Amino acid sequence: MRKKMVAGNWKMNMTPSQAVQLAGELKNTAVNDEVDVVFCVPAIDIIPVVNEVKGTAVKVGAENMYYEEKGAYTGEIAPDMLVDAGVEYVIIGHSERREYFKESDEMINKKVKKALEHQLVPILCCGESLAQREEGITLTFIKGQIEAAFADISAEDAVKVVIAYEPIWAIGTGKVATSEQAQEVCKAIRENIRSIYGDATADVIRILYGGSVNAKNAAELFAQEDIDGGLVGGASLKPEFANIVNYK
Ligand code: PGA
Repeated sequence: MRKKMVAGNWKMNMTPSQAVQLAGELKNTAVNDEVDVVFCVPAIDIIPVVNEVKGTAVKVGAENMYYEEKGAYTGEIAPDMLVDAGVEYVIIGHSERREYFKESDEMINKKVKKALEHQLVPILCCGESLAQREEGITLTFIKGQIEAAFADISAEDAVKVVIAYEPIWAIGTGKVATSEQAQEVCKAIRENIRSIYGDATADVIRILYGGSVNAKNAAELFAQEDIDGGLVGGASLKPEFANIVNYK
C-alpha cells in the first residue's frame, strides 16, 4: 500500500522569522500518522525550519537544487548543502521553474538523478497548460515529460521518486481539476511508469495532485485510486494546511 503524502510548497513566501512562526504553528496541527508531511520551504528558511520541526514527524524539503556538486555557479544550491542542512525532499521541475527560469526537460532529468545520488527524494512536477488541455494533447505531453525526467534512471531509483501532477491552469487560480480529471492523468502517469519499469515500480511509486488543493477538495481528490496525496501551494501557508493533512 502506498502511504499518502501532503507536501506544502511555500514558494517565495516567508522570511526566516515568519517561517519559524508558521512551522511552529503547523507542526502541532499538521499531524497524521497515515500521511507523510513535508514543508518545502525557500532555501534561506531551511535551517531555521529544520530546527523548529525537530522531534516531530514533519520533514523538510527544498524547492529547487542544482545538478552540479559544487563550484562556480553563483547563487545555486548544491545537493550536499541540502543534505547537510537536514533536507530530505526536493521539488524538481515545478512549472514556475520551467516557465520563468527556463528549466528544460534535460536539466530536470539531471536534477532528478543528482538528487537520487544524494538520497534526496525528488518531488518531480509535471503538468499541461490550458492551451495543451484544450488542444487535447494533455496525456501525450505529460508522457513526454515523464519519459524525459526518468531517462537513464534505474527502476531501483525510480521507485523512490514522488511525482506531482500539477495542471498549470489549476495552480494558484482557485480552478481545481475535477477529481475525474486529476485521476485520469495520475492513472495515465502510473501507466507510463508501468511501461518503462513494470508493475513493481508502478504500483509503489507515489503520485500527488497539485493545483488549488484546499481543505474542502482534498478528501475527494485523495480518495481517487491513483492519487496518493497533494502538493499544496497557497493553502500550505495557512492553518488550513492541517485540515488537508487530516483530510479524513
Ligand atoms: P496552489 O499551488 O496550491 O497555490 O495552486 C500548487 C503548486 O504550485 O505546487
